[in-house]
Amino acid sequence: MLPPRPPRPTPLPSSRPFHFLVVVSVLCFAAILTPAPAAVAAAASGDADGGGGEGGVIRIRTAAVARSAMDTKPFISAKDALKKEPISDVIALKDSMKYFDAEFFNDSKLREMEDGAKEFNVPAFRENRKLVATENGGLHNPSVLLFKSSWSSGSMTSETRSFEYPRASSVHRPTNDEDIAFMSVIELGELIRTKQITSRELTDIFLRRLKRYNPVLEAVITYTEDLAYKQAKEADDLLAQGKYLGPLHGIPYGLKDIIAVPHYKTTWGSRTFKNQVLDSEAYVYRRLKSAGAVLVAKLVTGSLAYDDIWFGGRTRNPWNIEEFSTGSSAGPAASTSAETAGSIAYPAARCGVTALRPTFGTVARTDVMSISESLDKLGPFCRSAVDCAVVLDTIRGTDAGDPSSREVALGDPFHVDITKLTVGYLDDAEMEVVDVLSSKGVKLVPFKLNYTVESVQSILNITMDTDMLAHFDNWQREGHDDDYEAQDQWPVELRRARLIPAVDYIQAQRARGKLIREIKDSFTVDAFVGNVTDWERVCLGNLVGMPVVVVPTGLKSIENPPKGGTKRRTTVTTGIYAPPDHDHIALALAMAYQSVTDHNKQRPPIDDLGPNDVIQR
Ligand SMILES: *[C@@H]1O[C@H](CO)[C@@H](O)[C@H](O)[C@H]1NC(C)=O
Ligand SMILES: *[C@@H]1O[C@H](CO)[C@@H](O)[C@H](O)[C@H]1NC(C)=O
Ligand SMILES: *[C@@H]1O[C@H](CO)[C@@H](O)[C@H](O)[C@H]1NC(C)=O
Ligand SMILES: *[C@@H]1O[C@H](CO)[C@@H](O)[C@H](O)[C@H]1NC(C)=O
Repeated sequence: MLPPRPPRPTPLPSSRPFHFLVVVSVLCFAAILTPAPAAVAAAASGDADGGGGEGGVIRIRTAAVARSAMDTKPFISAKDALKKEPISDVIALKDSMKYFDAEFFNDSKLREMEDGAKEFNVPAFRENRKLVATENGGLHNPSVLLFKSSWSSGSMTSETRSFEYPRASSVHRPTNDEDIAFMSVIELGELIRTKQITSRELTDIFLRRLKRYNPVLEAVITYTEDLAYKQAKEADDLLAQGKYLGPLHGIPYGLKDIIAVPHYKTTWGSRTFKNQVLDSEAYVYRRLKSAGAVLVAKLVTGSLAYDDIWFGGRTRNPWNIEEFSTGSSAGPAASTSAETAGSIAYPAARCGVTALRPTFGTVARTDVMSISESLDKLGPFCRSAVDCAVVLDTIRGTDAGDPSSREVALGDPFHVDITKLTVGYLDDAEMEVVDVLSSKGVKLVPFKLNYTVESVQSILNITMDTDMLAHFDNWQREGHDDDYEAQDQWPVELRRARLIPAVDYIQAQRARGKLIREIKDSFTVDAFVGNVTDWERVCLGNLVGMPVVVVPTGLKSIENPPKGGTKRRTTVTTGIYAPPDHDHIALALAMAYQSVTDHNKQRPPIDDLGPNDVIQR
């Protein structure tokens, strides 16, 4: 659920290349498949150019994206070195670890923890204390973490599904599979409903594509082929009996591999858990199953939902295969994913997919790996905002297994009168979106969020890291963090989290409450348009739990293209944000934009990069 944190504006000389705090988990709809699936789909076109076919192993030239930031250690003066020389601090810290009941760190880890605590923890504690703890007593700055004593609401599982979907009229089956693979869910649903294609045929098409592109994209961890054909047959049989379950009936999709599905591995992308089988059905999987959708694959998540490095490799961007997809929802850029701090926003933006990070609590997370109980959210990655709305309608709901889930009273995104809306645009909004919405009768005004809490990023760090450590306490105690795929990521952060006192965790939750009140007071519009990958905003959006739709808005040339040109591109994206519980507003605006533009319909150039830029075979 965490994307790599973004390339920071370099305030702090830390050694993070880019590591986003956004945790996104992805469910991957084949049709909904955006980045990776899109790439997969594109690649699946099966015409085996150059005799490639199945046998041709696609090798990728050395990735140009170097993770170099890691080894740019700040210059240490002789004086500093001397200060560091006596290991008395380390000895003192080692000694005090007995009061944390955590005497298992060796000296080098203790030194790193000490440095990290000084650099990140302590300044953040001080800042948050200034914000909320200068007065003693009272409830004036309540923590955002709520305790509910009621026993009565816990056992409900809701089954709401109420949007009125548009009907795709007169859809005809394209002659080539490639075109089928890029159709929207609504269109594919119509092909199935009118029996122009069977679910089995669709499943074949998407599985072939996944297998063709996966050697390059590394987006799939496990194919769920047997299950897929079984579910496809059920969908086809039901239809033969005249029962049609709705637009997801018979539609192939993928799930981020933090989501449990019985009988198949749920690896969390991690070497430690790569053989783990969880015999439970995640709530979102149950919902998709009952809507007739067909699970074809468990998609890549970065190890323990962080960034794009997993135990089998590193997921690539179909628009530019020399680049990685970023974000923990690396594989699902065409599916259902999750975000704690950027895991939906970053990969969707990088891969040019339309995605929704819903209001916190909208989708129950039962049987999904947890990073942070107050930050994790599940949402769809699709080819369009319409498709995201369809998937959201299917997966939303409460479940006893997730006490934070609630019945969010969303309006129907297909019945929003956008001409009654006032929408703000930030300095960094994509102006094409602003112009298009304006031409559709939306009132657009310049806008700024006004808040005084400056410790947004560190509140996110404290919250996410402490919560994650609580869930992976034993993993750290047993030293499994030494096997972690990217040593500069979770291992360092979670060791540093050992030194966050409970009282400062709570102060962070109180400061977060203040931030939320300020955002609420300054949210004077119905929605706003703005950059969706800015790290501060990713932190803010996740701490507040506000929904955002990630909207592709175009493509630009890559930096340093090969001589003679290339078809590789960098995607451009913007975000449409709405207040919590108003996901339908953001979706309606994104749909309006996509109804007259085609940026979300572009296909990645994965089979043909241009005459002078080939994937070496
Ligand atoms: C501490 O443990 C790490 C990981 O096992 C190892 O790489 C490092 O060398 C150890 N440091 C010391 C001082 O033993
Ligand atoms: C911003 O918020 C502060 C504190 O909440 C308030 O005093 C100030 O007037 C606000 N500024 C604007 C431009 O709304
Ligand atoms: C949050 O943690 C990340 C990862 O360790 C680090 O790069 C970043 O600088 C931290 N930010 C703050 C404000 O503490
Ligand atoms: C959004 O913000 C990020 C981080 O500041 C920046 O790298 C990116 O170019 C911005 N995107 C757009 C579309 O302005």
